[in-house]
Amino acid sequence: RAPEPATLVIFGATGDLARRKLLPAVFGLWQDGLLGSAFNIVGVGRQEMTDEAFKDFAIEALKSSKETDAPQPGSLEKFRELLYYEFGDFGGDEVYSLVQKELDRAEEAHGGRKNALFYLSTPPSLFEPISNGLGRLGLDDESEGWRRIVIEKPFGRDLESARHLNDAIHKVWDESQVYRIDHYLGKETVQNLMAIRFGNAIFEPLWNRGYVDHVQITASEDLGLEGRAGYYEEAGVVRDMLQNHLMQLFALTAMEAPAAFDADAIRDEKVKVLRAVKPIPKGRVKQVAVRGQYGSGTMYGERVPGYREEPGVREGSSTPTYVAVKLEIDNWRWQGVPFYLRTGKRLPKKVTEIAVVFKRPPLGIFPGGLERNVLAFRIQPDEGVSLKFSSKTPGQEMVLREVVMDFRYDAFGAQLESPYSRLLLDALLGDATLFPREDEVDHAWQIVSGILEAWDGTKAPEFPNYPAGTWGPDAADELLGPDRRWRRL
Ligand code: BG6
Repeated sequence: RAPEPATLVIFGATGDLARRKLLPAVFGLWQDGLLGSAFNIVGVGRQEMTDEAFKDFAIEALKSSKETDAPQPGSLEKFRELLYYEFGDFGGDEVYSLVQKELDRAEEAHGGRKNALFYLSTPPSLFEPISNGLGRLGLDDESEGWRRIVIEKPFGRDLESARHLNDAIHKVWDESQVYRIDHYLGKETVQNLMAIRFGNAIFEPLWNRGYVDHVQITASEDLGLEGRAGYYEEAGVVRDMLQNHLMQLFALTAMEAPAAFDADAIRDEKVKVLRAVKPIPKGRVKQVAVRGQYGSGTMYGERVPGYREEPGVREGSSTPTYVAVKLEIDNWRWQGVPFYLRTGKRLPKKVTEIAVVFKRPPLGIFPGGLERNVLAFRIQPDEGVSLKFSSKTPGQEMVLREVVMDFRYDAFGAQLESPYSRLLLDALLGDATLFPREDEVDHAWQIVSGILEAWDGTKAPEFPNYPAGTWGPDAADELLGPDRRWRRL
């Protein structure tokens, strides 16, 4: 299925995200013939620039990005012809009427339709002005073609601002026109989590408090700030990773089986489980959450600076770069089964994993301790699924050892596509399954808001509390209690 002819309008088209991710993703889709018979791109920015200069910029971006598919002969030149540029002040009307003219211009080639996908790849302070501006000029109106708006993260900086943003957007757009991006949902192996859970009969019967001891969700990053101090100092790890990416992984792991694989059935189930999470009021944060900030340390044999030494970071900053949290779910399936989530920067390596850790066998009839079985979904890198269990080792003695049964995604022999291409194509097709709905975002903020309240206003005297290149602060180990350990990844 190919999308109908459409114009992709990228606000913030000369920004970092457009350059590194969006343009390569669109180019890849276009080159693979997935964008249908007619398609064009209008870059919009505040910066004055001619069409030609924007075309040069975009082609240069494609050439320099690691994410660009190898171009076929002549394809960069042809892609160049699809690009246009408009500029202006996002608070005024003029820039939107220029966008309107671009849609008029494309009308004939697009079979008389003026379908448009507006992608807001700008700083969050511009989401509302742009949405309003499009609304003022009637660009949300679907009488001449469908109109959709894609909103990048961060969606709000707390519960209140997220609600304000949702209200502001709904003054112009119907929820069915709104696509909030969480790029983790575009990752192939995140979708595979659903495929494995609900496309097989052997996992679901075990997926509950009767068999599962606890669940661990890890998103560790080896990178540090990457020059993003301005943003990160304001955000911190809870807003940057926990509220969105980790909450999504959590919801997909813990939700009930949806009745159908469609946008609302899936999102209803995610919301249900998010609502069942035991609230974490400010006063309970100490018992269930641990914050960390990296100091200087050694990564891959090289000395790296601590967070507070990174350019642009405030002296004595209390911004957390690591969080571990224990979530409890008050429903029949998961009562008493903790979900431990952790994520941080400058940890020893990049790995995202969901591990379902099963209970020990009830009785030990062999020598040695009893181990817990683990079903682990490796989201990235080395994508795959593994099952750890005990087996007899060869020989006279009854000696057991843990072994691993491994499925690796590269067995399919295909290159994994970038999450942005998947999500862009879905938005062009009008499929919102992989985009968080308003109520999901709201509940995810509700879960983390106590943590933010407790941490935002308080100095963290013990920071830095983990050296770069280690697995985070010691207190994170204590969160699991005496009988559980974080997985060694
Ligand atoms: C982004 C965060 O949303 O996700 C970054 O802003 C983080 O800080 C990134 O590095 C991680 O994404 P991925 O796809 O590299 O795991």
